[in-house]
Amino acid sequence: MTEEAKRLIESRTALRPTVGVVLGSGLGAFADELSERTDIPYTEIPGWPGSTAVGHAGKLVIGKLGELAVAVMAGRSHLYEGYTPAQVTFGVRVLGRLGVRSMVFTNAAGGINLTLERGGLVLISDHINLQGVNPLTGPNDDSLGPRFPDMSEAYSRAYRETAKEVAVELCVPISEGVYAAMLGPSYETPAEIRYLRTIGADVVGMSTVLEAIVANHMGIKVLGISCVTNMAAGILPQKIHHEEVLETGAQVRDTLVRFLKTLLPRLGA
Ligand code: HPA
Repeated sequence: MTEEAKRLIESRTALRPTVGVVLGSGLGAFADELSERTDIPYTEIPGWPGSTAVGHAGKLVIGKLGELAVAVMAGRSHLYEGYTPAQVTFGVRVLGRLGVRSMVFTNAAGGINLTLERGGLVLISDHINLQGVNPLTGPNDDSLGPRFPDMSEAYSRAYRETAKEVAVELCVPISEGVYAAMLGPSYETPAEIRYLRTIGADVVGMSTVLEAIVANHMGIKVLGISCVTNMAAGILPQKIHHEEVLETGAQVRDTLVRFLKTLLPRLGA
């Protein structure tokens, strides 16, 4: 199925992207920055799951950022929508087959670490997979990657250093932390957040880890960026609403666009 998807995409554009970006909830604006762009709705790509979450556009945008050919997934699918791990990671598999060697995953996340603030950006240094599944279970396709892939540097140290340099240059405050992935779609309870803090998580979300596992399996280097759209449950005396998540995403969007525009050419080099 990934082969058919690859063929369809290659028939729509002559560009052969080497860098891929996944834009999370409310963070879709970056795709507008590309030149010579081709937009392909997910519904037109064989095997590609649609994205049903509010705030997710649901299209693949291929274009250029300066000289760099980039593939942007505006919208992703999640386990909580009922998709399988294979569906959730389908896009990353296809981009890998298209020749992408670097992936940037962005997401909206709840801040667990008390030093974080709403609207802050966090470079993901590592993850804790609490989603109860792994996209690599089942027969291994040895042509894609090894049966037991190493995950000791799932989020490239070199990319994080590059991202920190860009953050300093652009005066964008950014911190670093561990991302815990929950299944969702309910937000966490305050007790779950205390548990996540105890086991070493700084931010919590419902995406990214399965995609990062598949990227690592294929030898694709990964950078992860969380946007703290809200403080996690129980930290502030208020409830968490998806509207707040989208609203903060919208506020951070311009900063993230600026950040990615400077960063991506340095990952592709
Ligand atoms: N928890 C889980 N996922 C999230 C959150 C949260 O608080 N905010 C945005 N995505």
